[in-house]
Amino acid sequence: NNLDTLYRQVIMDHYKNPRNKGAVEDGSVTIDMNNPTCGDRIHLTLDVQDGVVNQAKFTGEGCSISMASASMMTQAVKGKDIETALKMSGIFSDMMQGKDYDDSIDLGDIEALQGVSKFPARIKCATLAWKAMEKGINEKPE
Ligand code: FES
Ligand code: FES
Repeated sequence: NNLDTLYRQVIMDHYKNPRNKGAVEDGSVTIDMNNPTCGDRIHLTLDVQDGVVNQAKFTGEGCSISMASASMMTQAVKGKDIETALKMSGIFSDMMQGKDYDDSIDLGDIEALQGVSKFPARIKCATLAWKAMEKGINEKPE
């Protein structure tokens, strides 16, 4: 249907024109994570100061869903406080499990990936960048 077509266009746009590609200079958090099922990887740098994700950038090699999701994730969390960023990750996880999710915060483009929940093999692709972000925030040295 039209929504699927729109979502597919959003995903392809993020894949072809990734937002926040690169590395944050003087990034306070660096995370490398791979998807064990395929070996695809993401390198994420975050600039987290005073409880706020000021910058989020990534590089990586992976399928279109994983790279589009990384692009969307960095857009979504940039400028958010840590609690909101982690909350968004929880919402995305609910979305990937096909559960009802909290749409009280603006989810931006990430909603375009909700159809991925119908393809269990691809869920790890879509959540890779979010897991990396969570790990980075949770392990950030004070
Ligand atoms: Fe094969 Fe993601 S691991 S589609
Ligand atoms: Fe590897 Fe999607 S196939 S992350």
